[in-house]
Amino acid sequence: MSRTPSRHRRSRVLVAALATLLATTGGTALAVSDSGGSGDSTTRAAARVDNPYVGAKPYVNPEWSAKAAAEPGGDAIADQPTGVWLDRIAAIEGAGDSMGLRDHLDEAVQQGAGVIQLVIYNLPGRDCAALASNGELGPTEIDKYKTDYIDPIAEILADTKYANLRIVTTVEIDSLPNLVTNTGSRPTATPECDVMKANGNYVKGVGYALRELGAVPNVYNYVDAGHHGWIGWDDNFAASAQVMHQAATADGGSVDNVHGFITNTANYSALKENNFKIGDNVNGRSVRESKWVDWNRSVDELSFAQSFRGQLVSTGFRSDIGMLIDTSRNGWGGTARPAGPGATTDVNTYVDGGRYDRRIHIGNWCNQSGAGLGERPKTAPEAGIDAYVWIKPPGESDGASKEIPNDEGKGFDRMCDPTYEGNPRNGFNPSGALPDAPISGKWFSAQFQELLKNAYPAL
Ligand code: GLC
Repeated sequence: MSRTPSRHRRSRVLVAALATLLATTGGTALAVSDSGGSGDSTTRAAARVDNPYVGAKPYVNPEWSAKAAAEPGGDAIADQPTGVWLDRIAAIEGAGDSMGLRDHLDEAVQQGAGVIQLVIYNLPGRDCAALASNGELGPTEIDKYKTDYIDPIAEILADTKYANLRIVTTVEIDSLPNLVTNTGSRPTATPECDVMKANGNYVKGVGYALRELGAVPNVYNYVDAGHHGWIGWDDNFAASAQVMHQAATADGGSVDNVHGFITNTANYSALKENNFKIGDNVNGRSVRESKWVDWNRSVDELSFAQSFRGQLVSTGFRSDIGMLIDTSRNGWGGTARPAGPGATTDVNTYVDGGRYDRRIHIGNWCNQSGAGLGERPKTAPEAGIDAYVWIKPPGESDGASKEIPNDEGKGFDRMCDPTYEGNPRNGFNPSGALPDAPISGKWFSAQFQELLKNAYPAL
């Protein structure tokens, strides 16, 4: 489909320039083969490389790039690859004057890109524990999800025109973790998550997406796995891996359709907390007893991603799965960044004085004040990690700070309201959200500026 609105055309020029720039940093020929070792390697699985990011120039989304470049100082990051969110059925064809899926794939081929990152995000009853990213499909609309959303995407991805692109799909943010932590007798349960657990439509939908997209030989499925400040507690850790396995193997599906998992998508959890470790003690008390850590098993995202990877493998996923970590907004640099460990008065002064993550509570997730850009996208940065990625496009809001009517099904979640006093999921703390935010997915200039200012590593 040839939709070339002026914004799109302008950004093509920019992209051509960026392509030249990127050609100097990536794009070497591929010589990586699947190290796959597990006995059961179907032809499909064998055709995939172990890490789709290795040797592959990443696709730069010209729409995001143009918005970033239009901001003062935004040029510094406008050439970074970010996720393309297929967040409603209309996004497949391109809603309004924005690019559809084929437009992005064609543009990726044009750029000479080797890898493109898509976000599959439209489950029935989406975002059951929050309101800010509620979607267009009601809780029972699983058939519509399959036929009007997943099927058309799978058909487009299977076009041989795109056979040389590695297509990374990150699958259904927050959905499966919500089934574990926000249902049943948990104090954090919501009626909406109970419905999605009872009707099975998250598990069925994720299972269907993995099967249909996984049938395309050049698709690499990464299932969303929350973040350490959510899944890192004992109650949630093994149970989450299990529900992910259940979804992957639902209706005859196979773990071979899962290339890996992504953590911290659109969240703010720090990558590495260098000023304290999970094994540290202060005056005979473990840091796990501090208010901030609160008995979690991980203090940061890297250690969590690595240990959760181990749990997933022992739950039945392939031993060669790789993890992605969204580092788009978890930098926590700037003047508030602690230069060293906190005072050893007690575990709380020690942890609170030393932690980079400056959130009021780790359960806060909406437009966090003080956040900065995190590590730039990077291939194979650590053991078990396929890449640091920017799936949440920096500058796009997490949710509106007040009620704003819209036609996307998005609700008003008070976790995005700076005056809110909280709920059980953030321990009844203030939300820490920036004021004057537009609905989720819309451009939020003030946040973009803050992310630049507090970037770590600094720009
Ligand atoms: C949010 C929104 C979605 C948007 C995405 C990326 O989750 O709900 O519409 O595309 O963020 O900014």
